[in-house]
Parts: sequence; structure tokens; C-alpha cells
Amino acid sequence: MTNGKLERVTRAVYPGSFDPPTNGHLDVIERAAGCFGELIVAIVVNPQKRTPMFSLQEREDMLKASVTSIGGVRVEHFRGLLADYVKAAEADVIVKGLRVVSDFESEMSAAMMNRSLSDVDTLFLMADQKYSFVSSSLVKEVFFLGGDVAALVPEPVLRVMAEKRNNLQRR
Ligand code: PNS
Repeated sequence: MTNGKLERVTRAVYPGSFDPPTNGHLDVIERAAGCFGELIVAIVVNPQKRTPMFSLQEREDMLKASVTSIGGVRVEHFRGLLADYVKAAEADVIVKGLRVVSDFESEMSAAMMNRSLSDVDTLFLMADQKYSFVSSSLVKEVFFLGGDVAALVPEPVLRVMAEKRNNLQRR
């Protein structure tokens, strides 16, 4: 380590659906930004097997507004294989957050697949305990059924979610 940064790792990619971004994501972004010279938060345009609730533009806007105070972070998006995106971005590593043991099971095979496709390693950060139960899908479900998620998402995300709920209610 040099000045708290990993010496040979300069550019990391933190991929995800971010539908919507949560405080758990933000915690990983803050901590990863402290480890690497540059962190690209990469939004997958079409998540596998599901249609996102928030458009790419909305997800991009929410993330950008949530990371303004964190240095060395940029928000991008990608289509297709993460391994191809990582190579094109000339990234050194992929960063992912792990919350629970079941995350590890799926992430282990994804990490091995991405390494075999791109020769890029995945580094994992353990989620802060207080966010270990927070997922985008649970946050959406609770919020749209009237629950309070203010402690679970960044403020700009809460605003966009409230707007979407109001629009849905007007229909
Ligand atoms: O936030 P998510 O939905 O858990 O993120 C999943 C993501 C975007 C990391 C994963 O679905 C992905 O990498 N998608 C791109 C397509 C791809 O490369 N698939 C093979 C992964 S081993």
C-alpha cells in the first residue's frame, strides 16, 4: 500500500443494476474509492432476467447525484458482457460487495467466469453490517407498499422514488 492506495491497482469497476442505488451501494463506493486511484461505477443497461423499474437515465442521475462528494468516482453504463466492458475500460479489477453467504455462492462463480473471460480479478468488500439486509429489490417492495426507506437510500434516490410513486398513483 502507498498512501493507503493499493500500489498496482489504479482503476476499478464496480458494476451493478443499481435499480435503485441503496446506502449499501454507496458504502461500497465510498470504501472502494478510498482504495483505488479511480473507481468507475458501471450500470448494466439491461439486467439479466428482469426489466428495471428505473430507466438508465434515472439510475445514472440518481448515482451521479449520490456520489458528488466522493472523489475519484465516475458513473458510466455498459451493455453486454461485464468482462468486455472491463477490458475496454482498461480496468485492473472488478469490485463487488458481499452481504450474506448466499451472495458469496453466486459471486464466486461470476468472479471465476469474469476472470476466465478477461483475466481481471474481482475483489470483494464485506458490506457494513447495518446494510447487510438492504437490497434494491426489498427497498422497492417496501417503499411502493408504503414503508419508510429513508434510512436505506441516499436522499437523491428517495426523491426520485417518491416522484415515481406519485406518478404511478396518478394513473
Ligand atoms: O446489481 P446486480 O444486479 O447484482 O449486478 C449484476 C451484474 C450487473 C454485475 C451482472 O448481472 C453482470 O455482470 N451483467 C453483465 C452481463 C455479464 O457479464 N454476465 C456474466 C456475468 S459472470
